[in-house]
Amino acid sequence: MSDRLKRVMPDVLAAIHEVLERHRVTEREWHAALEFLTEVGRADEFVLLSDVTRTSVLIDALTHGGDDSGATASDVEGPMYTVEPPFRRKIYEEYEGISPDDDILFVRGTVTSTAGKPLPGAVVDVWQTGPSGGYDVWDERQPEGNFRGRVRAEEDGSYEFQTMLPKPYTVPTNGPVGRYLEAIGQHPWRPAHIHFKVTAPEHETLVTQVFFPDDPYLENDTIGAVKAALVRPLERHDGHLQCAFDIVLRQAA
Ligand code: BEZ
Ligand code: FE
Repeated sequence: MSDRLKRVMPDVLAAIHEVLERHRVTEREWHAALEFLTEVGRADEFVLLSDVTRTSVLIDALTHGGDDSGATASDVEGPMYTVEPPFRRKIYEEYEGISPDDDILFVRGTVTSTAGKPLPGAVVDVWQTGPSGGYDVWDERQPEGNFRGRVRAEEDGSYEFQTMLPKPYTVPTNGPVGRYLEAIGQHPWRPAHIHFKVTAPEHETLVTQVFFPDDPYLENDTIGAVKAALVRPLERHDGHLQCAFDIVLRQAA
């Protein structure tokens, strides 16, 4: 057993035992809790459970909070990332659910180090929901991998991709975590956002999300992941929306 585990586990067990004692939890209730966790595992929903209980946000803060290097704020990854999407400047294909009022969005910025140096070749990997139907994996109308893609930063550190403005959506509600949300009266909505995973040699990987102003769920994201520094204004030019997001990576230790 690792030293770390040896040190942490007694406290984990003491905390669980204290709660069980304080609430006089019965054998029947405990078995129901174990059955629920078994179901969460079978449904592959542990990341989702960590997210909606705001545990992921806490771990993000414990891992990256207090970083005063000037790097862009991190945020939780969530369960929807898929590895190695294609390199492409336009990260989606049109599909049946898109309406003429849905906005095309250009996201642009630079990738630099905390020392202010451009990081050419940095990989900006993004994923998001479409304006209708949520993530590609939930929506039969969308081709596999829709609203997922990677772009490389240019010589001057600049990057750009074309997408569509996402809308608020609900996390999956048809499994055990959905039942849990219903039981405790927590709504399942997330504000619209774009996920980013940004990598460059000799720099720490940044996982984060970008949000947009005036979203009805900015103040009450079901996973509690909104950070003011990550809410980015949208501007309209030539009929399209634009969003500027400069990314600053911390040098690896
Ligand atoms: C997401 O932002 O992709 C997400 C977060 C938590 C649960 C489900 C999805
Ligand atoms: Fe998401």
